[in-house]
Amino acid sequence: MNEVSKVVVGVSGGIAAYKACQIVRGFREQGVDVRVIPTENALKFVGAATFEALSGAPVDTDVFSRVDEVQHVRIGQDADVIVVAPATADFLARVAGGRADDLLTSTLLMATCPVVLAPAMHTEMWNNRATQHNVSVLRSRGYTVLEPAHGRLTGKDSGAGRLLDPSQIVKLTETVAATGPIEQTLKGKRVLISAGGTREPLDPVRFLGNHSSGKQGFALAEIAAQRGAHVDIVAGAIDHLSIPAGAEIHRVTTALQMNEAMRSLAPQADIIVMAAAVADMRPRHAAQKKLKKDDNSQELSQVDLVANPDILQGLGEMRKKGLTSATIVGFAAETDNELENARRKLQRKGVDGLMVNSVAQGAVFGQAHNQGWFLDSSGREQAIPHGTKLEVAVHLLDKVESLHM
Ligand code: C5P
Repeated sequence: MNEVSKVVVGVSGGIAAYKACQIVRGFREQGVDVRVIPTENALKFVGAATFEALSGAPVDTDVFSRVDEVQHVRIGQDADVIVVAPATADFLARVAGGRADDLLTSTLLMATCPVVLAPAMHTEMWNNRATQHNVSVLRSRGYTVLEPAHGRLTGKDSGAGRLLDPSQIVKLTETVAATGPIEQTLKGKRVLISAGGTREPLDPVRFLGNHSSGKQGFALAEIAAQRGAHVDIVAGAIDHLSIPAGAEIHRVTTALQMNEAMRSLAPQADIIVMAAAVADMRPRHAAQKKLKKDDNSQELSQVDLVANPDILQGLGEMRKKGLTSATIVGFAAETDNELENARRKLQRKGVDGLMVNSVAQGAVFGQAHNQGWFLDSSGREQAIPHGTKLEVAVHLLDKVESLHM
């Protein structure tokens, strides 16, 4: 995991330029040095003083300011990563054309570090063949052009082309700096991911649940969507998480509901990842009224439990029957003898791979970082290095995609 210490935030001239302020804040709060380079038009939306105050660094738009410092050379060489947000249709065209007519485009031509472009424009402009051509040219040169979000655009319009959430842009930029460009390796594929924990009702106020936050499943969904996949997330109980752009969410509560949702989406899926923590047991009957804890009532101390279906194993069986052709992987959260337990589990579940992680002493659940091993059905065991859950998602999807090919 490379720590990012110097970031250039480029800003081009679209209404979403005001969100660049939050991106600058997001990096500064982590102690990252930020240099903001707006285009002339960006300054029609947000003043240079705002960017200077937020970044604590001077702001220029052309190569003729501070000529003695040869800024475009120095800034381009120094940066660990460059992110341009928003990147307008015109800006993408200028970069694709190799222009160097202001400080930002010159800096990009000088840079050898990873570059992330976060587009924002109206849907028609985004879908226009000229823009799409420029995007594919830029991607072919190793730039990460993020998929924009769907949603409210300027005025009354709504559709694809909205700037991603600033905090997602910060996290994805850090991920690209650590793991390399995000490529469109899942274009045209459908990826089905379960996330979070199930809740099994005991009565109208109580349930059996677990500590899963849904973060790792959502991180997988985010990377899969940015790699061009259509993503379905079947989510149980999760922490407050923003829904990744380009993913469709299906909310469930219990293991039985999750089973039904997964089985109905599995036939169309190319890749299935069961990242959810499914309760193994559920109360046989959910009481209609709150169970009593009075001395002579045994209602709470003698709850009758029955086993939930093993969803992952069931998906493996569906595939044996030809009901889905998806590559299927699961997770194994273990507190001890991780690899040994996971090898047996992989066999029993009849799937293609398992991501194994140790959850001893509160590690993983709800945390921002993860690590572990990936075991596949041909007997390979590969380490997944320690990193943010987005970085782990990158490594894990690389392994899953290589099994899928
Ligand atoms: O057997 P264990 O719960 O450790 O296996 C973990 C894997 O199996 C995870 O991928 C989890 O999502 C899945 N699972 C399931 N249905 C269950 C229990 C676990 O799909 N009832």
